[in-house]
Formats: sequence, C-alpha cells, structure tokens
Amino acid sequence: MRKNFGAKSWCYPQNVFIIATYNEDGSVDAMNAAWGGIYDTNKIVLALSLEHKTVKNMLKRKAFTISMADEENVIPCDYVGIVSGNKDPNKFNKTGWHFIPSKLVDAPIITELKMALECKLASYDEKEGIFIGEIVNVSVDESALTNGTIDTKKVKPITFDPVNSAYYGLGNKVGDAWKAGLKLK
Ligand SMILES: Cc1cc2nc3c(=O)[nH]c(=O)nc-3n(C[C@H](O)[C@H](O)[C@H](O)COP(=O)(O)O)c2cc1C
Repeated sequence: MRKNFGAKSWCYPQNVFIIATYNEDGSVDAMNAAWGGIYDTNKIVLALSLEHKTVKNMLKRKAFTISMADEENVIPCDYVGIVSGNKDPNKFNKTGWHFIPSKLVDAPIITELKMALECKLASYDEKEGIFIGEIVNVSVDESALTNGTIDTKKVKPITFDPVNSAYYGLGNKVGDAWKAGLKLK
C-alpha cells in the first residue's frame, strides 16, 4: 500500500542555494532558494517571487552568484530566507558574512560559503517567476579541495527537506554514477 499526499512541491534531495546580489548602493543582499536546479549543461533555473529584493537586484545588474548552503552556516543561511532586504537594509551585515566581488559577473561572492556559481541572468519569465542563469564560472575555496578537485566532505552542502521543513547534511557515498548500473547492462 502507498499513501497519497496530493499535489505538493516535494522532492528529495532539494538544493539549498544562497543567491547573492548587489543592491543599488553597492551593498550586498542574499536570499535562500530551494526551488531550483541545474538545467542544460551550463544553466541553472530558479523559481523566485518577484517581490524579493534579490529579484530587483538581479534584473538591474543582470548577474548573481549562487553559493551552496553548508553545515557550518545553517543559521545565516536560514536567516537570509526569513528576512527581506526590502525591509532590512542591514540584512547582510547581520549574517556576519563577508564578500569579494566576482571578477566575471557583477555580483558578490560570499567568502564564508565554500562553493559558488557565478552567473549571468540569461532570461526570465515574469509570469511564471522562472529565472535562468548562465553559469560562467564555478569557484571554490581551496580549503574545500582534495588533490585539486572539489571534495564534497569538505564543502558539506546541506539539503532541504520540504516535507518536514528541515535541513540535512549529506550522507555517505553509496555508489559511482554511470558505473554502478553497468553491473546490470
Ligand atoms: C528553505 C527556504 C527556501 C526558500 N526557497 C525560495 C525559493 O526557491 N524561491 C523564493 O522565491 N523564495 C524562497 N525562499 C524565501 C526567500 O529566501 C525569502 O523570502 C527572503 O527573505 C527573500 O530575501 P530578499 O527579499 O532579501 O531577496 C526560501 C526560504 C527558505 C527559508
């Protein structure tokens, strides 16, 4: 027997993206976005409410960065999903985070979050609230590398559980992609 829950926006695992943009005065805003994912080979899709300060900033600067929320930053990552830069211009300062300007897009990179996608706004559908970013670079703090490549255990990304409104760390590796299934070929 299976139990039906009806039409829900539930999916496992769900990303926890932290989108960072510049405000009009050059200060920084950040927001939490779990409704989004990779699309095509170099694009990312986000479902965003148009009233967010982040959206206004993205439309003005045509750029943003997306950092992976991580275990060490659960509190500020959740905080930027609760408070709006529309209401609190001091929002970013309260996170205790710092930023460096991306050299490739007109957006800030949050230094405390180890992995970031630097994106140009490729297109958006105002009616649907769908935003597509072209990923022009992935940058990662060297502390999250092992033998020169990104180490998931060091990035420690978190995932959003939409059913129970919770964040989880990732578990252990359970297989190799494009390899595990070869046993059945
Ligand atoms: C776990 C979580 C996931 C969220 N995902 C989204 C999302 O995918 N799209 C969206 O529009 N808002 C999402 N939000 C809400 C925004 O992060 C929130 O409204 C934020 O205050 C917007 O900030 P801003 O106005 O400074 O841009 C999410 C919030 C949380 C806590």
